[in-house]
Amino acid sequence: MVQDIIVVGGGVIGSSIAYRLAQAGAKVTIVERGRIGCESSRAGAGMLAPQSEARSPGPFFDLCMDSFRLYRDFASELSELSGIDVEYRDEGALHVFFEDEEKRDSEEWTAWQAGAGLALEALTREDLAALEPAIRRENIGGVFLASEHQIENRKMMEALAVALKRAGVRVVEGEDVREILVEGERAVGVDCDSGRLGAGTIVVASGSWSSSLLARAGVDISIVPARGQMVAVKGREAPIRHVVHSRDCYLVPRLDGRILIGATVEYEGFEKRNTPKGVASLLLSGMGLVPDLESFEVVEMWSGLRPDTPDHLPVLGPAGLANLLLATGHFRNGLLLAPKTAELISRYVIDGSSAAEMEPFSLSRFAVDRNIESLARP
Ligand code: GLY
Repeated sequence: MVQDIIVVGGGVIGSSIAYRLAQAGAKVTIVERGRIGCESSRAGAGMLAPQSEARSPGPFFDLCMDSFRLYRDFASELSELSGIDVEYRDEGALHVFFEDEEKRDSEEWTAWQAGAGLALEALTREDLAALEPAIRRENIGGVFLASEHQIENRKMMEALAVALKRAGVRVVEGEDVREILVEGERAVGVDCDSGRLGAGTIVVASGSWSSSLLARAGVDISIVPARGQMVAVKGREAPIRHVVHSRDCYLVPRLDGRILIGATVEYEGFEKRNTPKGVASLLLSGMGLVPDLESFEVVEMWSGLRPDTPDHLPVLGPAGLANLLLATGHFRNGLLLAPKTAELISRYVIDGSSAAEMEPFSLSRFAVDRNIESLARP
């Protein structure tokens, strides 16, 4: 019998976990300091991009691919349940090079992916002109990743909020979790703004806000916010059909005609805002990639805080205190990794069967080598 569960954090990770656990018959409460999906899950661009994000083979790439394979069904399940189209799109993505050095830098990356049998096609300048005529002509070719997809993450978070209600999850919004309640070596509940809640299992999925909460329970993990600024522009017609990456930015076309330009990676604490420097660099990079954007209207700008760990990998599984689990630190890949994280954590709670799969992402990896703290952040 699965006991009552509290999930701290109502981003895409916490919400997906709560949804799967409730479907499995657990009594689940989500406590979210703002509203469901109001932080980095909303701020992202919704790219489902395991190949673009991974630099080498290994457990992280496998985790990304596993989650990617679950996505089409996850997205259609949420769309059907909620009546909200989450705009799952599968056109693929392009990487464009403007200098020999960029092309050379990508060779190792493309070689191992091609060697692993992943969809990846080298493109000449002429190929690019045929696929996306609006890309600046001075390019020297690129790569097409047919398997990269996208979702409209704002809609997905709306759909997840409906799914939580349908699955019977109790959603507590606008409440901060001040403390994890600990008795002996065991977590027994949380202390929120409005009082205490007891639970048999507590899952911390509060992204950039996880570290301080965990530290107060004696769990030591550094998760820092990595700010990403974004700008959206819109013109009479969308100039591109695919997600397009250059060294300096990515462009994501939405069905409503907006083009999202992302994203900065900045370590400025919890300062969630747009800066002239950030916005200017995104606009310049975007126009450098697709010159037609010059005359577009800037329709929105925003920023979000990616939760980054010392080795940039998520932290999944036991927290070193009985009944306390971690599902946090997903950095640039929270949206992509949500279905797999939900599957792993819910299986762990139900029968412990995912313990080995989560091992590469365990908190204990930091205890083994404290020097990892000194790895450079990108
Ligand atoms: N996943 C893209 C980003 O974090 O900017």
